[in-house]
Amino acid sequence: MTDYQATYDRAAADPEAFWAEAAGLVDWDRPWDKVFDDTNAPFYRWFTGAKLNTCYNCLDRHVAGGRADQTALIYDSPITGNVQKFTYSELLERVRKVAGGLKALGVETGDRVIIYMPMVPEASIAMLACARIGAVHSVVFGGFAANELATRIDDAEPKVILSASCGIEPGRVVAYKPLLDEAIEISTAKPAHCVILQRDQQPCDLIENRDLDWAGWEAGSEPADCISVAATDPLYIIYTSGTTGQPKGIVRDNGGHLVVLGWSMRNVYGVQPGETFWAASDVGWVVGHSYITYGPLMNGNTTILFEGKPVGTPDAATYWRLIERHGVKVMFTAPTALRAIKQQDPDGKLIKQFDLSHFEALYVAGERGDPDTIQWAEDVLGVPIIDHWWQTESGWPIAANCKGLGLYPVKHGSTGKPVPGYDIQVVDEAAKPIAANETGAIVIKTPMPPGCLPTLWGNDDAYIESYLADYPGYYKTGDAGYIDDDGYLWVMTRTDDIINVAGHRLSTGAIEEALSGHPDVAECAVFGVNDALKGQVPLGLVVLKAGVNKPHDDIIAELITRVRTLIGPVAAFKTAQVVDRLPKTRSGKILRGTMQKIANAEAFTMPATIDDPAIIGEIEVALADIKRGAT
Ligand code: COA
Ligand code: AMP
Repeated sequence: MTDYQATYDRAAADPEAFWAEAAGLVDWDRPWDKVFDDTNAPFYRWFTGAKLNTCYNCLDRHVAGGRADQTALIYDSPITGNVQKFTYSELLERVRKVAGGLKALGVETGDRVIIYMPMVPEASIAMLACARIGAVHSVVFGGFAANELATRIDDAEPKVILSASCGIEPGRVVAYKPLLDEAIEISTAKPAHCVILQRDQQPCDLIENRDLDWAGWEAGSEPADCISVAATDPLYIIYTSGTTGQPKGIVRDNGGHLVVLGWSMRNVYGVQPGETFWAASDVGWVVGHSYITYGPLMNGNTTILFEGKPVGTPDAATYWRLIERHGVKVMFTAPTALRAIKQQDPDGKLIKQFDLSHFEALYVAGERGDPDTIQWAEDVLGVPIIDHWWQTESGWPIAANCKGLGLYPVKHGSTGKPVPGYDIQVVDEAAKPIAANETGAIVIKTPMPPGCLPTLWGNDDAYIESYLADYPGYYKTGDAGYIDDDGYLWVMTRTDDIINVAGHRLSTGAIEEALSGHPDVAECAVFGVNDALKGQVPLGLVVLKAGVNKPHDDIIAELITRVRTLIGPVAAFKTAQVVDRLPKTRSGKILRGTMQKIANAEAFTMPATIDDPAIIGEIEVALADIKRGAT
């Protein structure tokens, strides 16, 4: 029996014993009363009664335990030409001061702090500083517009917002401050203070009595010590796309989270303390939370915070240059990044310029890893390319090929086998498990292992409704696929309106809300279409109100700007078309799935419930027009 199978079986047979043993990776201030607590089912909790501090486990204990001079965090920013290294003791000193600065602004345990920052070291420092004093952070991705930030401000009600004057994207400086000011202007819950990191590329004006300059604020603060919190206290909230325009506030606890991060660093990614691990993601996404900041640091690794893109900063060799420069052992990125590199360096010629002999594996996630891209990367890199699957909700891998437990054969297109602790099933609409190789809804038997979301921020009912109500006894992942005869999971598609654009999770419902708000639009449909680089991109079809006779090109340009302004550039909404009508069922449900199939040139059957089959022909013409580049 493989290490993987033995470990999986052990976790399944006695989860409490398994996770209690894994909890040995964490330094606790007080032991737990219960490893697993189902007294308030279905709100299951892990390690109730225990106390700890996440920041202490990521920094202080390593400094005290012999890692003071080891590099903890490398900020490598090819987009600004900067490389900066922080030892564990240097990072701790920065975090202590920032934590003290937050305390001086009145932030107490349980208070929320929003972090709206580009990929600079201060983003991770801010997260750890919040953890240090038991404040609950919520990092908002920089590619979101003011409106999205405002929604999060209103839901999290932060006392303080930590931000920067600007972010840097290829070819342009993104001024964060106007977006922040606008978000606070339109939000109801106003933060008492904003602390702004002034960046040389574009400093900004500060608002008197509300804004503070980060440098002076940090320099003048009293270093703060760790505050012991309950294992079940929230560490952070991360907002993710739901099926409407209203994002869901995923809650992460302190104790279970740290246990599974430590366990997964070693057993999933196969990384030992002292080694270098690099997740090329953004702190605004869950990957950045788990595997840029908390996971590698709790495990005593060197982590890399990369401010750049896989191509163009400065070239398609950036990834390989960093792997060589920093001795990366295991890396994590999105398949989109590999597709971007493949487009520019199809034969992998650039890779040969670097010594990657220490590099052992590349993990990918965030979207379906198409077999061609995975095969290409394997050929040019000569290391296992491991597709694995998880979600913001889980916070750590659900299915993978666990390097730390001995790799088993990789099947391209599959996301591997269930990670120990997860009971993944494929079920039909009646929640009945279905046979191997048959496609159905992918669900996870509850209770889920530690680390997974205990609820949604301030909304227990929505947690039940979104995740537990449809398949009693199971957590609904929102993905569909199958498990093959060898127990490998194949994640094929979403069952809801979420699309993955360049590994970024977006709701087509949210884009539709933005389009519907345009004064000329009567109704609309947005769905994801296949894209060679980004995996999927959103496409919008709109029906105009009667009597609107503005040129369609003008309306489309306005719609594109509208999505960019309301949701953000990250939505990558660039294609729309005006149509006379949309295909619907007799009960009025828009047939988005059928239109998506037509757009992707996939076979489809005419839905039996369609109101007027003739509309399908019109849609085919419209989509063909779009393909030809006409608007
Ligand atoms: N702040 C402000 N704007 C941002 C941003 C940020 N943090 N991140 C992205 N954007 C903007 C981009 O500038 C771009 O704007 P544009 O329309 O003016 O060009 C838009 O949002 C879309 O960004 P992106 O999806 O990154 O596309 P791109 O064309 O700039 O780059 C790739 C394409 C493939 C290089 C890029 O998508 C990529 O690196 N993907 C990997 C994603 C990844 O690692 N995801 C993590 C999940 S694990
Ligand atoms: P996010 O919450 O942003 O991490 O997005 C999670 C969703 O991305 C999942 O529910 C899937 O739809 C998709 N996803 C993530 N990883 C994979 C993968 N390896 N293969 C297929 N889809 C994936």
